[in-house]
Amino acid sequence: MHKIYFATGNPNKLREAKNILGEVGYEVEQLDCEYPELQADDLETISAYGARWCADRLDRDVMVDDSGIFIETLNGFPGPYSRYVEDHLGNRKVLKLMEGETNRRAVFSTVVGFCRPGGEPRTFTGEVVGTISFEERGTHGFGYDPIFLYEGRTFGELDDFKKNRISHRGNAMRKFAQWLELDPR
Ligand code: IMP
Repeated sequence: MHKIYFATGNPNKLREAKNILGEVGYEVEQLDCEYPELQADDLETISAYGARWCADRLDRDVMVDDSGIFIETLNGFPGPYSRYVEDHLGNRKVLKLMEGETNRRAVFSTVVGFCRPGGEPRTFTGEVVGTISFEERGTHGFGYDPIFLYEGRTFGELDDFKKNRISHRGNAMRKFAQWLELDPR
């Protein structure tokens, strides 16, 4: 079975990646490689930088995952700053920020970055469109899952299997796996 080395310190991302990529025939192994979080306005730049940094440092093929939630009425905020906002404000304060807003559309995005040592990084973007709920719901998932509504249920109310079928991460990782099949080396 072909192995994919995933540089992440996030056990939730790792679990989801194992399921998503496992279903299409890949084994995922976690790599301990904390890359510097580049300050940039788009996830692609951050992801590509992280993948290259780890691939060159560890001298092996590496996958990374950079994700964010883009809220339309906040002009895409928090987007690439999602981790910072989650850590410093949390979902309750995000909901407070959204009080009185009728446009609650939000896009969840994952950019998978992949790089081989000495090579150019590639990125694969997956998205899912939903809305920001009015309250936190559900005990599954992590991060923004309890406030991201998709077809009447928050991601926090979906088990991994259901979330992975439709999620930003599922879409990005399946795209990556398809590309890898054509370029296996
Ligand atoms: P990062 O990709 O680790 O920088 O994640 C950015 C922020 O989005 C963190 O606060 C994560 O907890 C959150 N996040 C990433 N992926 C997901 C997801 O699939 N569901 C909910 N929150 C997520």
